[in-house]
Amino acid sequence: MQIYINGELVPEAEAKVSVFDHGLLYGDGAFEGIRAYGGRIFRLHEHVDRLFRSAQHLAIQVPVTRDGLAEAILRTARANNLTDGYIRVTLTRGVGLGLDPKNITNPTLVIIASQLALYPREMYENGLELVTVALRVPPAQALEPRIKSLGKYVNNILAKMEANRAGAGEGLMLSSDGYVAEATGDNIFILCKGEMFTPPAHVGILEGITRAAAMELARRLEIPVSERMLTLYDIYNADECFLTGTAAEIVPAVKVDGRLIGTGRPGPLTKRLMAEFRALVAEEGVPISR
Ligand SMILES: Cc1ncc(COP(=O)(O)O)c(C=O)c1O
Repeated sequence: MQIYINGELVPEAEAKVSVFDHGLLYGDGAFEGIRAYGGRIFRLHEHVDRLFRSAQHLAIQVPVTRDGLAEAILRTARANNLTDGYIRVTLTRGVGLGLDPKNITNPTLVIIASQLALYPREMYENGLELVTVALRVPPAQALEPRIKSLGKYVNNILAKMEANRAGAGEGLMLSSDGYVAEATGDNIFILCKGEMFTPPAHVGILEGITRAAAMELARRLEIPVSERMLTLYDIYNADECFLTGTAAEIVPAVKVDGRLIGTGRPGPLTKRLMAEFRALVAEEGVPISR
């Protein structure tokens, strides 16, 4: 595997960052997870823009331009003969011991283009089970949820461990005042009487790129869609429920905290959205080959 580090492509064994990197020491940085389908990168520019917005908030100067980053991602994908895969872009503040960032001037930019570990087909056909975890999402006043920051993910990892302990496919996280926020690595949607709802960003969620795609597809299918504060009552009483994320795509959730959602099988609108999403990723995207 060829890894991109600060402008160079190097073999995996030589791809090393400093033990003083602020990303390693403090989780001081941001990242993106991106998918390639059939030789095309899905929503490449949206991911590049989100990384730049994260960097802007963290006051980390991205060492390349937006076009330069898109090109670096494509170059890394090409160097690894990627057609279908998962691309991880990591940006950290750079190298320096101690919390104070004022003398850290050279950010670290790493791009990994890996072959895909597909989720089991069964998960899409039968849907997955969610459990509400005890751990809450950090309030937006404490940690801006729209930054896809490295450090924030320790919370999501702990939440995932809770879900694993319960033997569930995913953990559902609430805000500190008990509203439904998101799953540990995915956004959540429900369908009620033909209308689609998802929590707004200020509850403490990442504004997912797959979430935006699902909302776009719903509008195309003339399914009314809106952001709304949701409680567990809304989830338990929904006709259908699904999660969205770069890795998981659109995946039905059929059981939440022991309650069957709707019929307990992936619902008809969820299935239509899944089919439309597959069509979208096949036709859209920035070609990897020149
Ligand atoms: C906490 C969290 N929420 C939501 C998502 C879904 O976002 P996206 O669709 O951009 O992958 C992710 C995945 O990256 C995530 O980590």
